[in-house]
Amino acid sequence: MKSLIILISGRGSNMQALLEANLDVDNITVISNNPSATGLAIAKRFGVQTVVIDHRTYPDRITFDTALAAEIDRCEADLIALAGFMRILTDGFVNHFQGRLINIHPSLLPAFPGLGTHARALHEGVKIHGCTVHFVTPQVDHGPIIIQAAIPVLFDDTEETLAARILQQEHLIYAQAVRWFMADKLKCSHNHVSIDDMTICEPILYSPGLQH
Ligand code: GRF
Repeated sequence: MKSLIILISGRGSNMQALLEANLDVDNITVISNNPSATGLAIAKRFGVQTVVIDHRTYPDRITFDTALAAEIDRCEADLIALAGFMRILTDGFVNHFQGRLINIHPSLLPAFPGLGTHARALHEGVKIHGCTVHFVTPQVDHGPIIIQAAIPVLFDDTEETLAARILQQEHLIYAQAVRWFMADKLKCSHNHVSIDDMTICEPILYSPGLQH
C-alpha cells in the first residue's frame, strides 16, 4: 500500500497534475490549511479524500503542525508533497517527516528562495529561470534537489508569461519526482540526490517540452 498526501493552500494546479499523472499509489489524501482553497473542489472532482485543518483555529504554529502531523500519521503517508502549501513548517514537523517530505518551488534553487520569484528573476535580468523539486529541510526552500527544469527568459517576458511557462514545467517535474520516490529510485546522501533510473539520460536538468 503506497500512500501520498498532498498539502495545498490555494489553486492546486500542481496537485491536479499529480492527480492526473496515474501515479503508482493506492491512496491519495489532499489536506489544506485553507478552507477556501480552490484546489479542494478539484480534488473532490477526482474523487480524492480531502481534509481541512484550518491554521486559524490553532493558537500557534506548533499546535497547528502537531495536528497536521497527527493527521498525516493517521493516513500512514509514505510521501508528503507540498504543492503551494503557504505555511512555514516548524523544525519538529520537518524533522518528523525527514526524507519523505518534498516541495516544489518556482525557481532554480538555491537562487530565489521565498516569494515573488518570477519578479525577482526579471529584476535581476537572469537569462535562465525554472523550478525545483527538493526534499524539505528546516531551512525554508532549501534541501537536497531531486529535479529541476530550466527555461530561457525571453526579452519581453512579464511576471505572468514567465510564471505560466514555468508552471507547465512544474507539473512535469513534480509528477516525475513522485514517480521516482514511489519506485524507490531516489537515494539521498550528503545533500545529493541520485536517481536510479537508466531510462533518464540527463536526470537533473529537464529541457522545456521534454515529456517523461
Ligand atoms: C507553484 O508555483 C509552486 O511552485 C509554489 O506555489 C505555486 C502553487 O501553485 N510553491 P498551485 O497551487 O500548485 O497551482
